[in-house]
Amino acid sequence: MLPEKLKTMLSDLPPGFMYLVLLATSLALVPPALILRARAVPSEHRRIHIIQNMDNQPKFFDQQQNLLFRDTRSMRPRVPGTVSRSQMVGDTHYFLGTVEGDFATTFPSQVEVNEYLLDRGRTCFEIYCLPCHGVQGKGDGLVHQRAMVLLNAGTNGTTWVQPKSLHEEAIKDYPLGQIFWTISNGVRNMAGYKSQIRVEDRWAIVAWVEALQLSQDASPEDVSGADSLPVINKVLPGEDMEEEDDS
Ligand code: HEC
Repeated sequence: MLPEKLKTMLSDLPPGFMYLVLLATSLALVPPALILRARAVPSEHRRIHIIQNMDNQPKFFDQQQNLLFRDTRSMRPRVPGTVSRSQMVGDTHYFLGTVEGDFATTFPSQVEVNEYLLDRGRTCFEIYCLPCHGVQGKGDGLVHQRAMVLLNAGTNGTTWVQPKSLHEEAIKDYPLGQIFWTISNGVRNMAGYKSQIRVEDRWAIVAWVEALQLSQDASPEDVSGADSLPVINKVLPGEDMEEEDDS
């Protein structure tokens, strides 16, 4: 029941205009239909992604193939001998100075005790230990002497624990591993040095501490060919002072 006016308007239109309108309308439905299909039907192709924002990056996933490697696996096997940092060091003798939970009584097999090692030990001892323990390891280094001056002057808040003499009987009886452990981890008021001194150098210091201890207790029989040397029967310079230190 169209009004008369509309009827005349429609009959005035060119012939076939209605078909054109119908065709245009159906064509206009094609793109939305395609979009709906793309959203509903699974596809093998990656969807069109115009702004990437680094959403997709080339990378290999587990169990994928990677032709870069001869065995074509993207997952690489562990390099033999790899140990994670949190895992045990393995060789406790070398790295901790312990064997089966006790302090080691020998040098580890990696450490060859020779002149070079002693030389290295002396250098490291004189850098790291001498300031407190003194050149001979008697616990009388310059740091100690300075601390005593401050202590005697009553400088506010100075407290001081004397560095041990490395020639005390107890310390002479320490197994090698315990000296190594002490250098590494410190003891009571002494700080540990494992972050500053490499493992091999710590063993070198152990060797030098042993040499110092031997040297302070040596008798002529310990030296080959000592008979041919002149006998020195007097008090060596400095010995008087040490007596006082010990009291
Ligand atoms: C900053 C000063 C200082 C330095 C440097 C230092 N020590 Fe000590 N050391 C001490 C003090 C202090 C003690 C005594 C700690 C205590 O009894 O509380 C000590 C104790 C020791 C002991 C005896 C441990 C025990 O069980 O009684 C040994 C062994 C030792 N030091 C070796 C070394 C060696 C080797 C080095 C060099 C790597 C070194 N120290 C560097 C201050 C120092």
